Amino acid sequence: RSVALAVLLTLVSAVDRGNFKSCQQSSFCRRHRAVKPGESPYTLLTDTVTVNDAGLVGDVINENNRIVFTLEIYPLKDSTVRIKINEKNPIKPRFEDPYALVKDIHGESFEVVDQSAQGVTVKFGSHRAVVNAKPLKIDIYNGNDLVVSTNARGLLKFEHYRNKPGNEEQPAEGEGEPNALPADDQEEDKDGLWEESFKGHTDTKPLGPASVGMDISFVNSKHVYGIPEHADSFSLRETTSTDPYRLYNLDVFEYEVDNPMALYGSVPVMLSQTARHTTAVFWHNSAETWIDIKKLPDSNVVSSITGFFSSGETDPPQVSTHWFSESGIIDVFVMLGPKPMDVFRQYAGLTGSQNLPPLFSLGYHQCRWNYNDEEDVRQVHENFDKHDLPLDVMWLDIEHTDGKRYFTWDHYKFPNPLEMTANLTARGRKLVTIIDVHFKRDSNYFFYKEVHDRDLFVHTKDGNEFDGWCWPGSSSYIDMTNPDAREHYSDTYRLDRYKGSTLDTFTWNDMNEPSVFNGPEITMPKDNLHPGIGVEHREIHNAYGMLFHESTYEGHMKRSDRRLRPFILTRAFYAGTQRSAAVWTGDNTAEWSHLRISQPMLLSLSVTGITHVGADVGGFFGNPDVNLLARWYQAAAFQPFYRAHAHLDTKRREPWLFDAETLRIVRKSLRQRYQHLPLWYTLFYENELTGKIQSLFFSHSVVCSSYND
Ligand code: GLC
Repeated sequence: RSVALAVLLTLVSAVDRGNFKSCQQSSFCRRHRAVKPGESPYTLLTDTVTVNDAGLVGDVINENNRIVFTLEIYPLKDSTVRIKINEKNPIKPRFEDPYALVKDIHGESFEVVDQSAQGVTVKFGSHRAVVNAKPLKIDIYNGNDLVVSTNARGLLKFEHYRNKPGNEEQPAEGEGEPNALPADDQEEDKDGLWEESFKGHTDTKPLGPASVGMDISFVNSKHVYGIPEHADSFSLRETTSTDPYRLYNLDVFEYEVDNPMALYGSVPVMLSQTARHTTAVFWHNSAETWIDIKKLPDSNVVSSITGFFSSGETDPPQVSTHWFSESGIIDVFVMLGPKPMDVFRQYAGLTGSQNLPPLFSLGYHQCRWNYNDEEDVRQVHENFDKHDLPLDVMWLDIEHTDGKRYFTWDHYKFPNPLEMTANLTARGRKLVTIIDVHFKRDSNYFFYKEVHDRDLFVHTKDGNEFDGWCWPGSSSYIDMTNPDAREHYSDTYRLDRYKGSTLDTFTWNDMNEPSVFNGPEITMPKDNLHPGIGVEHREIHNAYGMLFHESTYEGHMKRSDRRLRPFILTRAFYAGTQRSAAVWTGDNTAEWSHLRISQPMLLSLSVTGITHVGADVGGFFGNPDVNLLARWYQAAAFQPFYRAHAHLDTKRREPWLFDAETLRIVRKSLRQRYQHLPLWYTLFYENELTGKIQSLFFSHSVVCSSYND
């Protein structure tokens, strides 16, 4: 019986790992993990190096297959340097993410101080980028200290586009071998190069293998942070005996803690902290990405592995990280700090800072799936007054709509949304309604029909409108890469289009990874097409959710003639999300371990620029006991986004439903929160102006002992 119980418990309380790929089940992950450290076949052809106003450009050759790449190095303002590697003559242009960066990134003046057959040295401010030609290695110095070294372990691997064996076109006259299958590719693991299946789904990969990867070492470092979202410690762990940390926006049902599995969002930014330097790296790529972490001790033994210094010298301790993405190019920004605040500002210079949240959104939010009808909403917010509990926002989940048709209302349960909202605003409160990214395929549903008639949904690989299963059943997914789709969607927030909404109705964007219940890994097939920019979903997967919430933001701006600051909550995120949304950590569980992990999860988001963050207070799944609930209210009073939420099947848990002592603790926590509101608001204001991230990072760096060396 105990075995049966154990099985049952596992079934009800743990993630179904079988729904998600392990590294072994992902062919590009296997291929990159199989690269052995040692001498890299990539060499900079120093006589091709030219210098222009912005930086350096030169050819790099892979000696094994003679494929040529372009290396670019751009010193940027504010102690930042950008390193790009792309195919020189790809058979098709490779995708470069246009979504993360802000428009105005400025170059820094620089000087080439050394150029020889051995390499090139560029000086900018008090920093240097030293490029070693053979094997290719780029060392970044802050003053005299080597802080970051790329390809030091020789793990660079760039899969050039090629024609499928058997389909080769004759090379055009004068062209070399770019289409040929190179010698080194003959030997490698070929499984999944041109097609890959997982749990009955086949990814057709019409463009074949196209992954890119490289190692990046943080020299003299012992700790690295960032790369949300994982339910794991703030100081990232070595992945020598686990899968790499994965960045692939996924809807993971009942996620587990202390785990490198991918979750709902991705920010490919990592920070390293040493006694003298905070340094960060932004791996600018919106495709699926994995990151291995290896901590190398201070020893002679490792110099043969890492090749930092010529033999005889001792390698410094370092954290060697290995990044690989399924497609795109290598585009790495190194931010040189040297203090945490400097790195935060430098990263905000690349992707923007957190928009200043409206004051109400820093107060307390009451949510559940679902508040059943207008009467339920009225009773709940009146009870907050009756029990002397501050409250700013009431939330409505998917059941408030007419059959999960977003931008509509259930006419029986919510016949008078304007009156309901007026009751809230009369007490200074706001309303948030949910708008998900999937739209019910029903030609009587105005939004679906309009978008369908204009052909603005995502397509399958064969060019048909993609049909995926989500809350409303059969659904289509809007193609947010298309400016027309963005305009159409954002216009729908105008008060005459979204009937029943007001300027006090704000928005919760959910399921925007996107979640597709019957899709591979519960998401969209990678070979789906985005007609808007004419690329496969694979290229932009991690940015898709951000495109959606950015359009929501634009919708809020339009509806108020750009007068009022929006408030949007999103589950999926990417580098740049901070410009337009707050983030919560999705479907956690009413367990102590989930309360514990909320701290490092929110810290990891904060240090990568997304500072308006929170976790469902009380835990989404399951029923917290009074002790857990009370402690959760207390802890979350000091987290930036403060919202209680619960699953449809859980017991009601509004604070007055518990004993007097619990109610007292909750009241005290809420009041404590409101006492600090001026501080929170000021910190967010400074954060928006300067990109300095103070709110969570600084209130918690004190308690996070793992942060210090
Ligand atoms: C997702 C969200 C959750 C929401 C539910 C229904 O699971 O993460 O917060 O309540 O969908 O919309």
